[in-house]
Amino acid sequence: MADEKAILTFEGKQIELPVIRGTEGDVAVDISRLYNENKIMTYDPSLASTAVCKSTITYIDGDKGILRYRGIPIEQFVTERPNFIEVAHLLLTGHLPNKEEGVSFRQRLTDNELLHENIRYHFRNMPTAAPPMAQLSASLNNLACFHREFLVLDNDDDFMEVSARLISKIRTIAAFIYRRSQGLPYNYPNPNLRYCANFLHMMFSLPFAQYEVSQEIEDALNLVLILHADHEQNCSAATVRTVASSRANLFASCAAGICALWGPLHGGANVEVMEMLDGIYRGGLTPEECIRMAKDRENRFRLFGFGHRVYKNYDPRAKILRAACDKVFEKMKNRQNDPELNIARRLEELALADPYFIERKLYPNVDFYSGLLLRAMGIPTNMFTVMFAMGRLPGWIAQWKEQHDLSGGRIIRPRQVYMGPNETDYVPFEGRD
Ligand code: ACO
Repeated sequence: MADEKAILTFEGKQIELPVIRGTEGDVAVDISRLYNENKIMTYDPSLASTAVCKSTITYIDGDKGILRYRGIPIEQFVTERPNFIEVAHLLLTGHLPNKEEGVSFRQRLTDNELLHENIRYHFRNMPTAAPPMAQLSASLNNLACFHREFLVLDNDDDFMEVSARLISKIRTIAAFIYRRSQGLPYNYPNPNLRYCANFLHMMFSLPFAQYEVSQEIEDALNLVLILHADHEQNCSAATVRTVASSRANLFASCAAGICALWGPLHGGANVEVMEMLDGIYRGGLTPEECIRMAKDRENRFRLFGFGHRVYKNYDPRAKILRAACDKVFEKMKNRQNDPELNIARRLEELALADPYFIERKLYPNVDFYSGLLLRAMGIPTNMFTVMFAMGRLPGWIAQWKEQHDLSGGRIIRPRQVYMGPNETDYVPFEGRD
């Protein structure tokens, strides 16, 4: 619909505002010139009604529980079983790699899997018990010192090269962080292994005991990474785009994304969920008490892994992960009756039948079941959000590129409604009460 307009009536004046319609029917009123032309701002503190960009990467319909990467429904990534690297290529370029592109991208990843030896000195000066997310964001930013030729990107080949470097190295860094925390020697990456198998090897092989990667575990990790690969304008992606809008480089922008992801209301929720399940298992708490505390307005406790800004239906990723838990735990005979999986199911059952959760449309999100799967792989709780970051990196890079390539893209710079004191005089020290 060409030239569609919305009318804003304010103080007796009618202001015409252009309307934007997305390819899947999203509607937005374009207020980008409202302030300059009329000195009126809009107020939306958590940006719940604000689209900050036009994007072609990921589509979500929160009411129907739909998620698509570049148009492809997330469920097809389960049935068609691509590997994480193909999905990364899809997000970065907009298409699945053909044979030649696949070989070339994989080769770039393999060629870049080692870290510069000096990065080990960077790790050496951090306490071994330092939070893994702090180590990860510092290390990603540090890569800018070692790959200075990619601080300014002006062609697609350099973009693919630096993307491959980041996606490859974040895996090596994550494994290094874990090995240090355990006082274990570092394992160098093995170029003969696939992305997920190589990560598991770097995590768990011992000097004279090569870790045997089981197909179930490799597949489960591949699935977890794919399901986390992008999620449109969430807190960390919006952070990456904000930093990118100042024309900051890709390393700095992704390091900022890691910091945003760390928070318990975002990616850090996977740690909170597992601590909640552990707490119930150890007997300090019952599922019923958790539900009661989550509903209590005086209590800051939340049912972690539940609720979402966009989904007002079951998060499709949680549905897939729930089924994957059943499958993986069934195969691992000793964990068939995993007590924490049973607790999670009980919590879900209670919440989905409770009017508080029903009225507010609070359903399990991606973090509710992901930790159980990660734990089944042997990954400790304090590494869960690092795993999320590994999965999300291709999405952040794709979001960075989209922001970077905007013709005439302006710096993201919100306004505020000032509510502080009116002009007042400085009081010299002697005159203060
Ligand atoms: N437990 C209890 N109450 C909740 C929860 C929850 N997990 N989530 C939302 N609510 C309540 C809110 O208190 C609010 O109640 P009110 O209307 O009576 O004030 C109502 O539901 C609406 O919630 P909002 O806070 O407005 O939802 P918002 O969109 O701002 O927040 C968020 C979404 C942060 C995900 C929230 O649901 C939450 O804190 N969940 C727990 C943390 C979590 O799992 N985060 C991971 C999200 S997925 C991801 O980032 C990868």
